[in-house]
Amino acid sequence: MNFAVLASGNGSNLQAILDARKQGRINGELRLVFSDKADALALERARAAGVKAVVSRRPADYPSREAFDTELVDILNKEKIGLVVLAGYMRILSPVVIKAFPDRIINIHPALLPAFKGAHAVKDALAAGVKVTGVTVHFVDEEVDHGAVIEQVEVKVKRGDTLETLLPRIHEAEHKLYPKVVDLFLRGKIRAQQR
Ligand code: GRF
Repeated sequence: MNFAVLASGNGSNLQAILDARKQGRINGELRLVFSDKADALALERARAAGVKAVVSRRPADYPSREAFDTELVDILNKEKIGLVVLAGYMRILSPVVIKAFPDRIINIHPALLPAFKGAHAVKDALAAGVKVTGVTVHFVDEEVDHGAVIEQVEVKVKRGDTLETLLPRIHEAEHKLYPKVVDLFLRGKIRAQQR
């Protein structure tokens, strides 16, 4: 199965997938990495690995979110993409994309959903004083950080943890988990689930 990764920033999860691919741990073809940010490090990581890197025009240059997403769907369809992997993609997908790839879009989130949705999940978990947090891979539906959970891994919060000390352990858990889930999906081992 062909797949694509969508990323807006650093791309460390993309890198984990690229590394797994190089080591033969991904049974599918990564056809492209797409970004809405021309300066995303993720694009450089893709190019360095010999993967096609596609960058959109500035989102503000499109007449609407739907126009942006229609172009994205065209790009994905041209490559016959069967799985869309969000890895730090900071745009909310409109129904145009969700409907084009039903149960074929997955995301990774740095908390144990449904706890701590949103863009500051690690900070919010720390502020709430939880003893255990973690990471979640889930299907993407039309609500943010909402679709059915596919897999979760716990990360313990240690006494005195700060964002600087907890975040690396969250990332480490993500980098182990995401390539595994991507591979399972590509091998047809993950079925769509109702939430
Ligand atoms: C990750 O923490 C992921 O859980 C969240 O965005 C971050 C992306 O990091 N959705 P990176 O760009 O993969 O380094």
